[in-house]
Amino acid sequence: MAILEQTVDATYEKMLEKLRGVVPNFELRIKADLVQKINRVKAERNAVILGHNYMEPALFHTVPDHVGDSLELCRVATRTTADTIVFCGVQFMAETAKILNPEKTVLIPSDEAGCSLAESITASDVRSLRDAFPGVPIICYINTYADVKAECDACCTSSNAAAVVESFDADSVIFLPDEYLASNVAKETGKRILFPEQCKSGHGENGRLGQADAHDQTIIGWHGKCEVHERFTVEDVQNVRKQFPEVLVLAHPECSPEVVGVSDFSGSTSALIRRVRESDAEQYLLLTECCMGDNIAAENPEKDMLRLCSVRCPHMNQITLEDTLASLEQGRYEVTVPEDILLRARRSIDRMLAVQ
Ligand code: 13P
Ligand code: SF4
Repeated sequence: MAILEQTVDATYEKMLEKLRGVVPNFELRIKADLVQKINRVKAERNAVILGHNYMEPALFHTVPDHVGDSLELCRVATRTTADTIVFCGVQFMAETAKILNPEKTVLIPSDEAGCSLAESITASDVRSLRDAFPGVPIICYINTYADVKAECDACCTSSNAAAVVESFDADSVIFLPDEYLASNVAKETGKRILFPEQCKSGHGENGRLGQADAHDQTIIGWHGKCEVHERFTVEDVQNVRKQFPEVLVLAHPECSPEVVGVSDFSGSTSALIRRVRESDAEQYLLLTECCMGDNIAAENPEKDMLRLCSVRCPHMNQITLEDTLASLEQGRYEVTVPEDILLRARRSIDRMLAVQ
């Protein structure tokens, strides 16, 4: 929750309490001033700040009114009464907040916060899949842009992907664009994974899902990958386990199925945070974006977070306290979604939100 102190000095003291040893003191001094200004302008604008779990620690622990994973922030966005939502996260997340709140102003502090998964598929790709596999439901990961969501039957996040797949009364579903998440969900739901090019040869005509496939429990995936999570390897895990045999290994499901297979637990960013909170292990290896390790370390100073610390999401990294202040002061960068796309994308999101 946001730090709301009366003076910069008091803000600095609060930040120091939370972030000592995680962020250098001189940096906290500078950032306390920014935090103070952000809170003032936020109140003047009747704005709410939503912060994804991957925000850098000095931002994550200070200005957001709500922090969470994609699904939690999506649900918060359906309930806010603020006039303006500032989304400290990436573009597809801010777009989702706009789709859920077409009448509100939604701002994102940087116009360069993309996502390699969202970039990996277009609306026209989805239309081609619809033509190639008529009648097969299409589920997209929330890490897609609005025009892609508009072409799909439902979207999902890492915390409800299996439940959304199982909510369809269908043997086969298309699940895009994350190849690894699709493979992990296939394992979890007892389905097999195929890719469109595999369906073309010997399984059907003209790329259609063949009779045999249509009656098999199949997830048809796409070849998108997260540029952060694809970098973790089985060897990384084995090397850490050799050195720290008691370590608890936690992997985001955007990691490969092989990496998830050698981990102790896999879940959304918030599920990983909860697992650390609830566990009494001494050491943890987090196979996800490295700022989240810093955020957990700040909250659990007695626990040892081992992480492969160079793995920072370059898109999440665009969001800074400086730009959050500029965003509030200058009303930039406003997120817009054309109305016809917004209405169709909304159906995909609503279908997901209806799944418990
Ligand atoms: P979560 O929904 O688990 O927060 O994941 C979002 C994301 O982009 C992970 O890379
Ligand atoms: Fe996209 Fe990966 Fe960054 Fe998440 S960590 S926003 S999936 S590039």
